[in-house]
Amino acid sequence: MKVGVFIPIGNNGWLLSENAPQYQPSFALNKQITLSAERYGMDFALSMIKLRGFGGKTEFWDHNLESFTLMAGLAAVTSKIKLFATAASLVMPPAIVARMASTIDSISNGRFGLNLVTGWQRPEYAQMGMWPGDQFFGTRYQYLSEYIQVLRDLWGTGQSDFKGEHFKMDDCRLSPRPQADMKVICAGQSDAGMAFSAQYADYNFCFGKGVNTPTAFKPAADKLIEATAKTGRTVTTYVLMMVIAAETDEAARAKWEHYKAGADQEAIRWLGEQGAADTKSGADTNVRQMADPTSAVNINMGTLVGSFASVARMLDEVATVPGTEGVLLTFDDFVQGVHDFGEHIQPLMASRAGVESPVPTRVPSHAPLQEAA
Ligand SMILES: Cc1cc2nc3c(=O)[nH]c(=O)nc-3n(C[C@H](O)[C@H](O)[C@H](O)COP(=O)(O)O)c2cc1C
Repeated sequence: MKVGVFIPIGNNGWLLSENAPQYQPSFALNKQITLSAERYGMDFALSMIKLRGFGGKTEFWDHNLESFTLMAGLAAVTSKIKLFATAASLVMPPAIVARMASTIDSISNGRFGLNLVTGWQRPEYAQMGMWPGDQFFGTRYQYLSEYIQVLRDLWGTGQSDFKGEHFKMDDCRLSPRPQADMKVICAGQSDAGMAFSAQYADYNFCFGKGVNTPTAFKPAADKLIEATAKTGRTVTTYVLMMVIAAETDEAARAKWEHYKAGADQEAIRWLGEQGAADTKSGADTNVRQMADPTSAVNINMGTLVGSFASVARMLDEVATVPGTEGVLLTFDDFVQGVHDFGEHIQPLMASRAGVESPVPTRVPSHAPLQEAA
């Protein structure tokens, strides 16, 4: 099974809690995490794009770097790990994104790919006068379908004359073209999102579900299998999970309870309002799942809480779900978490057999996070 890290491009990673580590995003911090992930043989690092935060006492995601420029920096300091940036398709024209991707392909020597998002939070785009109106909730994957056809034209042939409702190319050119086959991620969960992935993407990412229920995302993986049966393309599922690990199950559970006790209710309320604004995409969107009160403290992303051995066992269970090729991991503390994954969890995973472990190192708990803040 492939393993990636969803690097903390926004403050405090994915925990909306006053009791979780508080830190700002920086290049130094993301470099430290990505180099550590590379050293432990992790397969890829992905950064999201988020243009407006949730507020609250923790100012959740009010502080965010930009995804392409961050990954370009990381491309220059890494050598093996694959890197994915996220394109905010509403505000970044496809001909520019195609060229930025080609540039990072050159910096990284063919290790770059793209996560395409339609956007789901009106304030991110309305704040800059770029929200097309709420009808976009219903048409966003049609828009993204045109967008990716322009990208594929330009990457594939260096030229596009694509004419659609949203994009009209007129002998549009791209050179140099990427040296590697450009891989595209989509994380659509709605029917339209899954149909898009099945038709155009290489990987579909979904949220894990629940706490210590590693295979509960199976319905999403099954839905993708159904959708690809219609298109005849190979598109695999990757699942997003937060790992909260410690030496013992009890110690890990105590951390999780502590984070939940400090939940930033104001930021969570804001997330709920954003999820409710989309009335067009069907009931089962990830966005509505994120604000569910069960585990809103980490946007319900699916959480593995336990000893290193318990987490290794649960990650092996993830790998058994048909159609699943990999996991995308977040951590409560990314520096310590990637270190513990590499040193103590990965070596116990049957699904990671054969990944070479480097010579062990010690990482002082929390210190690097504070330094980078
Ligand atoms: C791993 C992962 C990464 C995502 N990255 C972003 C992102 O960077 N920016 C964003 O606006 N949405 C992001 N999303 C949201 C998805 O693009 C998508 O809108 C969401 O999963 C809901 O699915 P739907 O669009 O089909 O309703 C991400 C979701 C997942 C699971």
